[in-house]
Amino acid sequence: MTNVGVIVGSLREGSFTKKIAKAVADQLPADYNVSLIDINLDLYNEDLDVDGKVPASWTKFREAMNNVDAVIFATPEYNRSIPGGLKNAIDVGSRPMGSSIWDKKPALIISVSPGAIGGFGANMALRQSLVFLNMPVVQQPEAYIGGVTNILDDNGEVTSQRELSYFKSIADTFVDLINKMNS
Ligand SMILES: Cc1cc2nc3c(=O)[nH]c(=O)nc-3n(C[C@H](O)[C@H](O)[C@H](O)COP(=O)(O)O)c2cc1C
Repeated sequence: MTNVGVIVGSLREGSFTKKIAKAVADQLPADYNVSLIDINLDLYNEDLDVDGKVPASWTKFREAMNNVDAVIFATPEYNRSIPGGLKNAIDVGSRPMGSSIWDKKPALIISVSPGAIGGFGANMALRQSLVFLNMPVVQQPEAYIGGVTNILDDNGEVTSQRELSYFKSIADTFVDLINKMNS
């Protein structure tokens, strides 16, 4: 059983990014176990990362991520980078030193925006951190999902066959990477 954690960079209830993340994850093989990981965490502070002081939200997040074999990051772009909440989750997961929950886990980056550039800045900024965290990341397709409001129908679903087959190709590439890392 392959456990895939989905991390969505938006905390917004009606997040477009979350809908795209779900549409891509739906294209994974049926025997994959997919779970959405909550990143609404206390802000990282090294002073708290000691016995007796670790916030419950960090512990819950780290435990959830330790049960995950591979990660889908779907993120909006905030000011040409990733939202602070996502960066905070990356930082929380990376510590304590030597116990990073990211190390060697295959990852897929999807950036999403109503704009035309498809969250290019966020995609690249996230990629920069994942290189440092030693995560093998899908290189192509780079998965910039622009004009997201045109992709979602009135019910907030992706129904266009063209988009769904693109999402399938993204998911298939991610599966190939996971298999390669496991072989
Ligand atoms: C603080 C903030 C900064 C933003 N900066 C960008 C940006 O740099 N590029 C962009 O394409 N959209 C930007 N947006 C617009 C977001 O793409 C838009 O709000 C999007 O719907 C957020 O994703 P979500 O629907 O998953 O919450 C920004 C939105 C906020 C709230």
